[in-house]
Amino acid sequence: MLTEHDLRRLDALYQSLEQATERFLGYPVSKDFETGPLERFLRFPLNNLGDPFVDSTFAVGTRELEREVVGFVADLLRAPPGDVWGYVTNGGTEGNLYGLYLARELLPRGIVYFSEDTHYSVAKNIHFLGLRSITIRSQANGEMDYEDLAETLRINRDKPAIIFANIGTTMTEARDDIGTIKGLLNRFAIREHYIHSDAALCGGFAPFLDPRPAFDFADGADSVSISGHKFFGSPIPCGVVIARKRHVERIARSIGYIGSLDTTITGSRNGFTPLVLWYRIKSLGVEGLRERARSALELAAYALKRMTDAGIAAWRNPQALTVVFPKVSDALKARWQLATQGEQSHLIVMPNVTRTQIDALVDDMIAERASAGEPGMATTSHSIQKQGCA
Ligand SMILES: Cc1ncc(COP(=O)(O)O)c(C=O)c1O
Repeated sequence: MLTEHDLRRLDALYQSLEQATERFLGYPVSKDFETGPLERFLRFPLNNLGDPFVDSTFAVGTRELEREVVGFVADLLRAPPGDVWGYVTNGGTEGNLYGLYLARELLPRGIVYFSEDTHYSVAKNIHFLGLRSITIRSQANGEMDYEDLAETLRINRDKPAIIFANIGTTMTEARDDIGTIKGLLNRFAIREHYIHSDAALCGGFAPFLDPRPAFDFADGADSVSISGHKFFGSPIPCGVVIARKRHVERIARSIGYIGSLDTTITGSRNGFTPLVLWYRIKSLGVEGLRERARSALELAAYALKRMTDAGIAAWRNPQALTVVFPKVSDALKARWQLATQGEQSHLIVMPNVTRTQIDALVDDMIAERASAGEPGMATTSHSIQKQGCA
């Protein structure tokens, strides 16, 4: 039994989480999931240890549903039937580590190329794996600078290339184009190459965009990582990594103790999050996901318009949920949990964000500017807009 004091602490924590969740606009996390029908499963020590496609002696798990999640996501990502494998990870970071691990096993002499806008965890993963890497410049909108990549590949054309592509960078949701990158690999006749797509946020909705970004298996990716708690939505961080099966077969080891294959990064694996993703996918379906993307993008366009109408130099990449604007004050940053890096802050219009919240945020921004004596109509001629971003 807990003491009165500890019970009160739990109540206070619950209330503060309720409030914090209400004003949460700066990070790519969906809050509109439903877990009621799944809560009864929390009484089991669910653990999907080992390979989801090979049954284990440890039977308290959700591997069958995990396989369905992998199959659903693999189809969205146009993975080649018969040459596809994947599992539910602890998040986008683990999926990225997995993609780079496969790349290293296939191309141990390879150099990893990634843009300077890449998520902070990637440099650490590369360090773990002892891989050589080169950072490529980014364009102003956050997308990889293909001229810099071309020049760097040309100098290193005698070495295998491991491309780490961003399909939605953390700050500006810029998408690197795998089609353009493949063109460069061909131009320099770099036949030994591996392409990993970090589609942490966008992987859940990029398949529904028109034009569809070049990022998946049909475009030439060897592995793709997506976060589950971002676009899909989950109360527990999770993700899905999909890879070409023939690559995974290179690393598989049979482990007698678990009666399964050691193909994943961790031993014990969360058995509850595959259930959450399965429930999400089953209840939304492809059409539900498509509609989620459409309405969130429409609201992102509304947020941008409201800001630019108010004279705020805001902008967004084409078909992005992220609206970027000049750095806000510490007070606004804390009030709306707005991620800020350098001179930029951003709002991410995740599917659960409402028009009322956007109006309230923009009103706060206007009020703050007015009290700071800033002119009502600032310029909107941000360099990004000159480059034709929406
Ligand atoms: C582009 C990108 N990659 C990877 C990650 C890491 O994903 P996760 O937090 O699911 O580990 C993030 C997180 O925001 C991200 O923005």
